[in-house]
Amino acid sequence: MKVLLTGATGFVGSEVLRQLFENGHVVRVIARDPARCDAIRKRFNVEVFHGNILHAPALDGCMAGMDAVIHLVGIIAEAGENTFDRVHRIGTENLIAEAKKAKTKRFVFVSALGTRENARSRYHQSKWAAEAAVRGSGLDWTIFRPSVIYGPGDAFVNLFARMTRWPLNLIQCFTLPVIQGGNARLQPIPVADVARCFAGALMKPEAIGKTYDLCGPAPLRLREIIRTIAEVLGHETEEIQLPLKGWIGDWSKLLLPMCMLKGLFVQPRVLLVPVPVEAAVVVAWLMETFMTKPLLNRDQLLMLGEDNVGDPSEAMKDFVIRPPNFREGISVYLK
Ligand SMILES: NC(=O)c1ccc[n+]([C@@H]2O[C@H](COP(=O)([O-])OP(=O)(O)OC[C@H]3O[C@@H](n4cnc5c(N)ncnc54)[C@H](OP(=O)(O)O)[C@@H]3O)[C@@H](O)[C@H]2O)c1
Repeated sequence: MKVLLTGATGFVGSEVLRQLFENGHVVRVIARDPARCDAIRKRFNVEVFHGNILHAPALDGCMAGMDAVIHLVGIIAEAGENTFDRVHRIGTENLIAEAKKAKTKRFVFVSALGTRENARSRYHQSKWAAEAAVRGSGLDWTIFRPSVIYGPGDAFVNLFARMTRWPLNLIQCFTLPVIQGGNARLQPIPVADVARCFAGALMKPEAIGKTYDLCGPAPLRLREIIRTIAEVLGHETEEIQLPLKGWIGDWSKLLLPMCMLKGLFVQPRVLLVPVPVEAAVVVAWLMETFMTKPLLNRDQLLMLGEDNVGDPSEAMKDFVIRPPNFREGISVYLK
């Protein structure tokens, strides 16, 4: 098949590209900065279409001759003209218009688990609006909603992994922040399984008109995920119990410095420290204000405060995937 792929320079897109080639497809990628495609061009014989999905005129002709599109451009943080609404909704509408012009019927769209009407985060709200555009397009669509995706080069697992390594571990005295007690449940899935579903959907007419959850075998609390990452990297871990509310001004404020000292001098183990959401919001705001690429933003905090779980059974059946448990999955690449 001739496939147009968006987001090929990203974490998920590079694995999708690899699998499309493995399956013998001919691929054209859309890239806003063709220089970022140099690495791709060295590995694969792709055609690069220079364009930004935000600007409709720049996409003219991008679908010519294509049988299908896999659209996975997405952002987790807004920057300049790249707002959630523009990238997710308007970008998707622009591609749908191009697909119709070129009579490219098959449209695979990558949304996210937790996308729903009246979602709390603007990320999910804009993905919902994009899903509505895809559903109403009249094209042969399939929508995928992945939970957190992990694998070599991911942003999520590697962020926490970096925090357990020198020099960050020294600065923070071997502590890892667990926002809001880390009670939200997530269902992480490996990027290889995710890509297998996207590429597989092209050859499955029965996937047309379906919306699939893509997630791992079992929900894990955020604090269990962070703990597992630290343990796979060879650290002993300990959860610190601090009251989340009103701990400032109370005797327990001594607990954290005491535990950090213990972590630093007595037992160099990773301490999982609960961070009250109010403090996390301030940190996120400071990062958004002063960093060009903030590690955390307030929209992400909203998402980390709610469950992100689903039912993987349909995808497992239709695309024959067997996502491993999280510890097994990250052990392959983290060490
Ligand atoms: N990673 C996860 O855990 C996860 C979970 C659920 C859903 N998803 C969804 O999966 C998709 C891929 O995520 P990812 O983790 O691979 O993201 P990523 O690594 O940040 O990659 C994003 C891709 O989108 C491209 N892009 C961004 N804005 C663009 C624009 N205006 N025009 C053209 N290209 C643009 C980027 O190109 P440049 O190289 O030019 O920046 C990059 O190729 C997204 O839709 C995301 O919402 C991801």
